[in-house]
Amino acid sequence: MQIEKQAEQQIEQKLEKPNMVFVTLVSIVAALGGVLFGFDTAVISGALGFLEQRFQLNQVQLGWAVSSIIIGCIAGASVSGILGDMFGRKKVLIAAAIIFMIGTVGSALPDTFTGYIIARMIGGFGIGITSALCPLYNAEIAPAKYRGRLVALNQLAIVTGIFLVYFVNTWISGYGDDAWDVSTAWRWMFAAGAVPGLLFLVLLCFVPESPRWLIKKGRPAEALKILLKIHGEDLARQEVLAIKEVSKQESGGSIRQLFMPGMRVALMVGIVLAALQQVTGINAVMYYAPVIFKEAGAGANASLIQTILIGFVNLLFTILALWLVDKVGRKVLLLIGSASMTICLTVIGLAFHTGNTSGPLLLIFILLYVASFAVSLGAVLWVVLSEIFPSRIRGRAVAIGTMTHWIADYVVSQSFPPLLHTAGPATTFWLFALMSLITVGFTWRAIPETKGKSLEEIETLWSTK
Ligand code: BGC
Repeated sequence: MQIEKQAEQQIEQKLEKPNMVFVTLVSIVAALGGVLFGFDTAVISGALGFLEQRFQLNQVQLGWAVSSIIIGCIAGASVSGILGDMFGRKKVLIAAAIIFMIGTVGSALPDTFTGYIIARMIGGFGIGITSALCPLYNAEIAPAKYRGRLVALNQLAIVTGIFLVYFVNTWISGYGDDAWDVSTAWRWMFAAGAVPGLLFLVLLCFVPESPRWLIKKGRPAEALKILLKIHGEDLARQEVLAIKEVSKQESGGSIRQLFMPGMRVALMVGIVLAALQQVTGINAVMYYAPVIFKEAGAGANASLIQTILIGFVNLLFTILALWLVDKVGRKVLLLIGSASMTICLTVIGLAFHTGNTSGPLLLIFILLYVASFAVSLGAVLWVVLSEIFPSRIRGRAVAIGTMTHWIADYVVSQSFPPLLHTAGPATTFWLFALMSLITVGFTWRAIPETKGKSLEEIETLWSTK
């Protein structure tokens, strides 16, 4: 306490700017966490066709080859909070990066399908921890005024990872002939994840522990030292006060509060929107794009190149979303985006139904669908989740929403190949269209516009429901 007082006095004497080296380093680390998430979940899109031939997979095993990582993610994310609180964010993130490296290199080596599945689950465990702890760490360490933007930047990092891996996959598969692709190319695709993984691991060693965690653990002097280094002296003082205030509010929250009348509605909105983000089919496209294009009659190389286009459009429209979200508002973006997704998916289903898949029509509507997702559900889900709950329940409520999103991701990525096989592509895409239509109705009825509202104003929105 004495040290804290002294530091506070020093702060009043000097005014400095945040240390940009630290802020940049922390931002890069946080961004790499998102990149790893996108990279390693979407790497499967390029490898799947080769794995299918190498291990002679049936439809259910194909689903399993894609979704096993998500099982790991669910497990990793569900323990990340407890581990992060126990051992500190930095140590757990370092452990997660090592686990991720074991998983990604491990997925490249096996000669049995079971070996591959186990390695993917291990990698997923690391990704699950990272994807939950990285944004948390970033939010805890960044100056308050940047916090809102960080949520959306995480989505940008994820789609950058997806875009990158589509490139890497295409490059690797162009390297050898068909036989080499089946025996070796997929191994390099997984192993490539070790490059951003290693960078992440090395950089993590240079970032400080989260000051907020140190304060929670009763180590304010260490926290203050770090805050002074990161933020400069004027901001450090404000940060200590802000951290104490938030911690006070959060410690007042109980599980029961999640289910109090006003909060119940907010929780339901978060859960349903998170599930809708996935059951409208985005990852059927992100993970299975080459399979879809092949189903439509394209060759292996054309499929991979079209997949890169998808990654590019996804990235471009995510940037547009970040720019629009505070101008146009969350609700309007969600409404326009999901209405447009409904139309695109209906047309895609029609193209398969009528066998009209050889021209550019299919590709154009898949790209429009991805653009509509990116500008709406893609980025807006995370923004809405981060702001609709009062801070005393936010941590738990966001975790429940995020977990729902993963479980729905698992269901879609596991069931897509059997669905394609039994119901056919037309019905499968129409099912996603129906879910998008439900999203339009749900957004219209249940989502309040939160643009420009303070967290206190948002809270009162729920108490009147
Ligand atoms: C979702 C991912 C999805 C990505 C596509 C993210 O918001 O969490 O599951 O692959 O969007 O851009």
